[in-house]
Amino acid sequence: MTEPAPATENLVQARGLSRIFSSRASLFGKKRVLAAVSGVDLDVPRGRVTGVVGESGCGKSTLARLVLRLLEPSSGSIHFDGIDLAGVPPPALRTLRRRMQMVFQDPYSSIDPRYSVRNAVLEPLQVQGVQLDAAAQDARVASLMSMVGLNPTLAASYPHQLSGGQKQRVGIARALAMQPDFLVLDEPTASLDVSIQAQIIALLEQLQSDLGLTYLFISHDLGLVRYFCNRIVVMYLGRVVEILPDAQAAPRHPYTRALMDSTFEPDPQRRRVVTLLQGEIPDAFKLPPGCAYAARCPQASARCRSERPALARDGTHSLACHHPLS
Ligand SMILES: Nc1ncnc2c1ncn2[C@@H]1O[C@H](COP(=O)(O)OP(=O)(O)O)[C@@H](O)[C@H]1O
Ligand code: SF4
Ligand SMILES: [Mg+2]
Repeated sequence: MTEPAPATENLVQARGLSRIFSSRASLFGKKRVLAAVSGVDLDVPRGRVTGVVGESGCGKSTLARLVLRLLEPSSGSIHFDGIDLAGVPPPALRTLRRRMQMVFQDPYSSIDPRYSVRNAVLEPLQVQGVQLDAAAQDARVASLMSMVGLNPTLAASYPHQLSGGQKQRVGIARALAMQPDFLVLDEPTASLDVSIQAQIIALLEQLQSDLGLTYLFISHDLGLVRYFCNRIVVMYLGRVVEILPDAQAAPRHPYTRALMDSTFEPDPQRRRVVTLLQGEIPDAFKLPPGCAYAARCPQASARCRSERPALARDGTHSLACHHPLS
């Protein structure tokens, strides 16, 4: 018997990942080009929660779709469990997709509102061509609904009859239907009330440990990411600017520090002076030559405005800054 290949430490590994979008400002206008994701290296360790954080428009959802190969990269590679996704023909990619699923911010935007919860939960199985008789379907729906904390009596309900939290639980049940090992969670709680948000995060934590799942958790909220994730990747205008090796690591990039300072701290004992992020985000179509954060950065020097800092490792911590904070 041959030994199975040793499992790689990273379930997902992306190298030099870029995605260019082009558009015209008007019908006869000049074509404008934007790098939504630019030269991103990403490691997602098996069985852990990796966070991606950054302001709206920094490329988080584009990165998520690239990683799952729902979007073709302009350049770069993605390996899933050691398999180069570029070399996988479409039928095999469809089978591989069972193992990687996405939970969206608004779970029902992609589902027909005429679908009952039952049909919404069964749809991924149908798409994958899994044949079950009615009794087996009922059993699968009930088990998935219990797994996400929904009463199986809700199976006949329609989206408009559910609360936001219940809808997101259906979204999570759909993502779990094919028993994946990797979930990309793209701002799964951003549209929910704070109290509901906490319940969904608790559910995701429980599922991650019970099922040994690997998560890529995307959020604009650094406080939430620091609570939930083992490793944190910070993005600014399409590039990775810092990788914190653990949630306790102190940010050293001025942008991450500003994100942290603008995070609301409910405990007045721990609240610091809130220095909200200042300055305009540069136009993504017209990025300056140096550091993209220079216009907003209190530490910016002449070098920052002319020379773009590369992402460099310092032990287990990585950052792209000419004048990192200590
Ligand atoms: N299909 C598309 N065509 C053109 N531009 C796009 C497309 N998708 C995203 N973008 C642009 O790419 C950038 C990153 O978007 P996105 O990945 O959605 O960021 P985030 O999820 O961090 O808010 C934005 O400037 C956005 O307008
Ligand atoms: S490279 Fe310069 S402008 Fe950019 S974040 Fe660092 S100090 Fe600020
Ligand atoms: Mg997004």
